[in-house]
Amino acid sequence: MTERLGAMAIAAAGAYAMTSGFVVSQPAGHQPTEMARLRGAQPSSSTGFSSTMLNLAGAGAVAAAGMAVCQRKRTALRAEKFAGGLVGSAGGFGNQYEFDPCGFAESYPALVPWFREAELKHGRVAMLAFLGLIVPDVYRLPIDGPCQDTSIDVIAAHNKLIGPGLGEGQMWNMMVVVGAIESVRFKQLGLDFGNLTLENAGDLGLRALAPKSDKGMELMKTSELKNGRLAMLAVGGCLTQAVALDVHHFPFTK
Ligand SMILES: *[C@@H]1O[C@H](CO)[C@@H](O)[C@H](O)[C@H]1NC(C)=O
Repeated sequence: MTERLGAMAIAAAGAYAMTSGFVVSQPAGHQPTEMARLRGAQPSSSTGFSSTMLNLAGAGAVAAAGMAVCQRKRTALRAEKFAGGLVGSAGGFGNQYEFDPCGFAESYPALVPWFREAELKHGRVAMLAFLGLIVPDVYRLPIDGPCQDTSIDVIAAHNKLIGPGLGEGQMWNMMVVVGAIESVRFKQLGLDFGNLTLENAGDLGLRALAPKSDKGMELMKTSELKNGRLAMLAVGGCLTQAVALDVHHFPFTK
């Protein structure tokens, strides 16, 4: 029963992955090809289905898959270090921070560096985003134009700062900055991210403020990760509240 539920949920999760552009390929492939497939994967938008509905159904299925797999007994693979020994799982009683309910790290070891790269990137963007949600309420750069326009708040900002035409509006500056950072990454890792490893995942090579010791470095990496994870949740919470309660300023409550 559990296994059948698990299989159904995983099939549905697969469908979800296809519609949202996140495609996990064969477990036993080799790394660069899988990376390339991941990067090249496009959401199929011409199926005629409402992909929003599919995504919602898929999200439920992913949750179900997680629960089903949780019930499954963990196999002997656990002899290896959790997630290839990446930081972020230490602590807790009996290593309870080893949170991977769908078993992605076990099933797709070749993709673990990719997962970490993505997690760190999302975390860093979320940390900046959290600042961006709060700082403009108390301080605006003394530059004429949108910086002084108080009608631009967390909800209105996107639509007011982009367009009307392609390439018009201040949002495109952000695109240039993000593009520059991504270009550095392509240069470091190759266009298919083929040189991405557990060691260099998320590592842009910035060492100006890095601690000297290995212990300090590990602590720094763990703090960054945990702050990033917290920020991802916080940004999601703030934006949801801003829209749901129609309060566009910190602390996003009536
Ligand atoms: C990736 O690694 C290979 C083998 O070590 C190396 O030849 C190649 O130059 C690397 N690519 C980049 C973009 O650094």
